[in-house]
Amino acid sequence: NGGRINVAIDGPAGAGKSTVARRVAEQLGYIYIDTGAMYRAVALAANRAGVLPSDADRLAELVKTVDITLEPGADGQIVRLGGENITTDIRSREVTLKVSEIASHEAVRLRLVEMQRKLAEAKGVVMDGRDIGTHVLPGAEVKVFLVASVQVRALRRYQELSEGELVPLEQLEQEIADRDRSDESREFSPLVRAKDAEVLDSTELTIDQVVAHILDLCRTKTAEAK
Ligand code: CDP
Ligand code: CDP
Repeated sequence: NGGRINVAIDGPAGAGKSTVARRVAEQLGYIYIDTGAMYRAVALAANRAGVLPSDADRLAELVKTVDITLEPGADGQIVRLGGENITTDIRSREVTLKVSEIASHEAVRLRLVEMQRKLAEAKGVVMDGRDIGTHVLPGAEVKVFLVASVQVRALRRYQELSEGELVPLEQLEQEIADRDRSDESREFSPLVRAKDAEVLDSTELTIDQVVAHILDLCRTKTAEAK
């Protein structure tokens, strides 16, 4: 594997995982994989097929045939569903409100985790999600659990909203807290810090500071891996 390692970045919504994971991958010349986007793609596919987030049987059927592909693009990862570029569609509020329940089903997780492990086989991957360090890549050389206060996370998301989708900050904060609770309390691979993950609180850190810190951890491990 040429001294390459795998990097797992987990944590709650809006902690900065995808932003920093993408930059770390760029700096290292690694592949960035946003696993949340894969769960969002399943949620979008279910929505389009009229499958309810609570319908375990139909979701199990749907994930068997769903064709999700990830490819690197100029502004980050491009997600396709049956060839169609759905990178923007999976960020909709509709998908965001349904994805956590969709992701709680065992059949959905089994299928996506299998894909994620394949993508990381050759090493040289930075993967972000909720269960990467604990379940998907328990052997990842670097594991970070990125957190931040719910107020700051809601504010970060609020600042990303376009004019057409404005919702009150308080409502966004409530929705993020609800999704965290749902992700933390589900039965199959819930959101929890891996014992060997380093907790990084980004509440008062800039993106550059978080990236620099993770790159430091990676340099130490890469030197060891050689
Ligand atoms: O970007 P944001 O933090 O809003 O969420 P995301 O990373 O796109 O993930 C969306 C949802 O997918 C999460 O709230 C989880 O319910 C689910 N997810 C998961 O269960 N396991 C993962 N490894 C990644 C995401
Ligand atoms: O992937 P996750 O849901 O954990 O968060 P994200 O989508 O990467 O980050 C949410 C927003 O917070 C982005 O707009 C980042 O630019 C911003 N951010 C920040 O302001 N300060 C940080 N230390 C990290 C992220």
